[in-house]
Amino acid sequence: MEQVKVLLQDREIPKKWYNIVADLPTPMKPPLHPGTGQPVTPGDLAAIFPMNIIEQEASGKRWIKIPEEVLQKYLLWRPSPLYRAYNFEKMLNCPVKIYYKHEGVSPAGSHKPNAAIPMAYYNKMAGTKRMVTETGAGQWGSALAMATQMFGLECRVYMVKISYEQKPYRRILMNTWGAECIPSPSNLTQAGRNVLAEHPDSPGSLGIAISEAIEDAVTGKNARYGLGSVLNHVLLYQTIIGLEAQKQMEKIGVYPDVVMGCCGGGSNFAGISLPFVCDKIHGKKVKIVGAEPSSCPSMTKGPFAYDFGDLAKTTPLLPMYTLGHDYVPAPIHAGGLRYHGMAPIVSHLVREKLVEARAYDQLKTFDAGVKWARTEGFVPAPETDHVLAAVVDEAQRAKQEGKEKVILFNWSGHGLVDLAAYDAYLAGKLEAYELPDKEVERALNAIKDFPKP
Ligand SMILES: Cc1ncc(COP(=O)(O)O)c(C=O)c1O
Repeated sequence: MEQVKVLLQDREIPKKWYNIVADLPTPMKPPLHPGTGQPVTPGDLAAIFPMNIIEQEASGKRWIKIPEEVLQKYLLWRPSPLYRAYNFEKMLNCPVKIYYKHEGVSPAGSHKPNAAIPMAYYNKMAGTKRMVTETGAGQWGSALAMATQMFGLECRVYMVKISYEQKPYRRILMNTWGAECIPSPSNLTQAGRNVLAEHPDSPGSLGIAISEAIEDAVTGKNARYGLGSVLNHVLLYQTIIGLEAQKQMEKIGVYPDVVMGCCGGGSNFAGISLPFVCDKIHGKKVKIVGAEPSSCPSMTKGPFAYDFGDLAKTTPLLPMYTLGHDYVPAPIHAGGLRYHGMAPIVSHLVREKLVEARAYDQLKTFDAGVKWARTEGFVPAPETDHVLAAVVDEAQRAKQEGKEKVILFNWSGHGLVDLAAYDAYLAGKLEAYELPDKEVERALNAIKDFPKP
C-alpha cells in the first residue's frame, strides 16, 4: 500500500504567515494616489480598510503572527491534506511525481476562506459592523459571507449579474451564511447607476462590482471593504498553504522541482509558492509557474504598468501586469480568473524572473479537469483546471527532456457548484479563446497617460 495523504496534526498548524516583502532582492514600486501621483499613505486607505489591515498591507516584517481566534477557525479544515496524485500520474505516463494541496476541503470549497477569516477578524477588532465586497462566480463572496457570520458582522456582496443569474447556487450559499447578495450593476450605487444608464442590459464585470462595493463601503456607516485577492495582505494570509506544504513535504523527505498554481488575482498561487520563492531567493533550485487563462492573459500578454484595480478608478494605482482596467474578459467559465490585473507581488516576481507564467485556453483546461475527475475522483473548479493543464504540460516536458521531476501544485477548489460549466464542455459548447493582439494594443492605449513604474 502506498501513502496517498500526508497529514499534519492540529497542533502542527503554522502559527505565523510569511511576508515575502522582507526577502525581495529588489524593492517593489509603491501604489500611487491617482490624484497626486505620490505613494499612497495609510490615511488614503482608511475609508476603505481598517488600520490593522492597512499596517499589514504596508508591512516589511518577515513573519506575522496568526491570531489565536483565526487559528481556531482555520482548524475547522486546516491543516489541509497534501495528496500524491498516483492515478493521474499513471494516466499521464510521464516521469513525474505529483503532489497537491487540497484546498477544496474548506467549508466554502476553496482557498478563499484562508483570507476571509482573518479579514473578518481584523475588521471585528477594529469596530467594523458591516463588510462589503464583490464576487465573480461567487467563491470569494461565499467565503466572506461565512467568515463575517463567524465573527458577527453583516455582509453585502455585489455579484457580477451574469453569474448571479446563471449560477444561483453560490448566491444561495451566501444567503445561507446570512449575507445579502446584490446583482451588479445595481441601482444602489452611483457607479452602478452610471453603467445602467448607458447599458441597461449590462451583464456586469468584476471591475464594475469592485467599484460598487468600494462606493458602498466608503459611504456606509461603520462599513469597510474586503478584497479577495491582488493586495499584499490577501497574499500574506494565503501563505498558510505553502507553509503547511513545506512541513508536509519535509515529513516525507521530498522537495519539489516545480511549484504551480492557477492565477486570477494571484492569491492562491502566491499562497502555495511564496515560501518556496523564499527558498529560491536563498539558493534552492526550484521552478515556480503560474497558469492563467489565454482569454485574460495579464502576465503573458499585458504590459507591466500602473493601473487601477477597478473600472470606476476608485482604487490606488497599482504596479502590475494589466490588460487595462476597462478590459472586459470573454465569458469563460472560470469566473475567478476573469480579472484584468495581477497581484503587484506576483507581477514583481515575474519581472525578477523568480516566477514564470503560462496561459491556457479553456478547452485545454477542461480537458485536464475531466481527466483529473476520471482518475483522482475530485471534480476541480474551472479555475483549478488551469493549473491542471499546466501540470500536464510540465509532465510532458519532463518526458521529452528525459528527466524525473517532482511537481507540487495547489488544488484551489472543487467544482461541485460549477457543474453547468462541465455540462457545457461535455456537450461541446465551449470555445477556445485567445486574446487578439489588437486588444492588447487597446489596453496599452487606455493606460498610456498613467505614471510609469
Ligand atoms: C477555486 C478558485 N481558484 C482560483 C481562483 C483565482 O483567484 P486567485 O488568483 O486570487 O487565487 C478563484 C477565484 O475566485 C477560485 O475560486
